[in-house]
Amino acid sequence: MSLREQDAVRPVEDACLLPAVRAPPAGLPRAEPQLQAELPSDVLVQDVQNALQTQPVRHRLGPGDRSGQGGSNGSISAHTSSSTIHGRAFIRVAGPRCSLDEQRRCTSRTASGYSHVTRGALACLPRVGSRPLRGDADMIILDEAQLTAAVLAETERAGDPRVKEITQALVRHLHGFAREVRLTEKEFDTAINIVTRLGRLTTPSHNEVRLMAGSLGLSTLVSLMNNGTEGSPTSANLLGPFWRQGSPAMNNGESIVRSPTEGPPLFFTGRIVDTDGTSVVGAEVDIWHASPAGLYENQDPEQAEWNLRGKFFSDAEGVFAFRSIRPSGYPIPMDGPVGDLLTALKRHPFRPAHLHALIHKPGYKTIASQLYSHDDPILETDAQFGVVQNLVGIYTRHENEPAPDPDVTEAWYSLEFTFVVERGESWLPTPPVSAQRDTEADGA
Ligand SMILES: [Fe+2]
Repeated sequence: MSLREQDAVRPVEDACLLPAVRAPPAGLPRAEPQLQAELPSDVLVQDVQNALQTQPVRHRLGPGDRSGQGGSNGSISAHTSSSTIHGRAFIRVAGPRCSLDEQRRCTSRTASGYSHVTRGALACLPRVGSRPLRGDADMIILDEAQLTAAVLAETERAGDPRVKEITQALVRHLHGFAREVRLTEKEFDTAINIVTRLGRLTTPSHNEVRLMAGSLGLSTLVSLMNNGTEGSPTSANLLGPFWRQGSPAMNNGESIVRSPTEGPPLFFTGRIVDTDGTSVVGAEVDIWHASPAGLYENQDPEQAEWNLRGKFFSDAEGVFAFRSIRPSGYPIPMDGPVGDLLTALKRHPFRPAHLHALIHKPGYKTIASQLYSHDDPILETDAQFGVVQNLVGIYTRHENEPAPDPDVTEAWYSLEFTFVVERGESWLPTPPVSAQRDTEADGA
């Protein structure tokens, strides 16, 4: 059976008929609502016309369709015309209006005011046999103005509504960004290279992508948007690029200094409460911070594995405690795109001294947090935009006072802080790094 014979006996399904905004160009029939579709090379215009004449075009009348022009069973009459543009065959189908939702889904406007069918219209196109007139394989873009709508139309088939929402917003903002700055081809080439380098520089011991997210303020924005939703302050902050999953579990009060590390002793006592002030018992608290040399153990082969890292559990009072050395500020790595960005913006690369904590317990929203030293001179110019007012901790210096551990004879510091968590989903983020530098996994 030839293609024409197959088409002639199969029904035309699901036509989506669309209005033209302006009158068609001279020589083309005036047909108010219409659909225009390019025909695949192996389908003849006559095939479609024959099919439409022998089978009513079924128009899906949704609740948003106010045309009232459908037949009793939703079928309508339609007429067709055809033309050739730049050697390609097109067919137009005229009929009543689609609902606004269908129009958005099916078309974008051309400069001539015709509704142009995009790939998103596949479900609406008149079908000959089981194939749409327009194939899945490609799409003809007419001009810059039409492009964004064409890309957005392609998101309509997404099954997950959240995927659709995020993808559509991404497309709108990306295209809008390029138009706003009139992005040149050379600048676009540079941008591609930056993103490529972000990926290439990310290894098991270094995460340039997270570093860039922090340097643009995006990490803190997401943290602030997603915490404190009950109206109470919480202690959430950006995760940063240096958390490693699986740090050793320890008893309260033990030291996380695992290899010789210079610095004044610090005795930290933390408490975890919910937004009502009730103690949270049995929460996992992952602690990590940089050495006074400004390096995390994953960056520094001189440090023992898991140095200045440890996992603790809140007791019956919601309290946990550990010993370490007082953290120092440090510069973030400057040998990649993040460094190029800071240099271009004339920004320094330093972070104020801080301790990281990741607090996790089923039934409570997991938070990553950071405690900043109250006396650090760059609290207001953090290269990662992480310093939030309620996360500044007050260090107390002790001289000529006995420390909690008798081996401490020099001046020491204490720090107490209460972390506030809220009830919600407990989950763990993807670890930004997983190994120390210079390991086989790092490829170095
Ligand atoms: Fe850090």
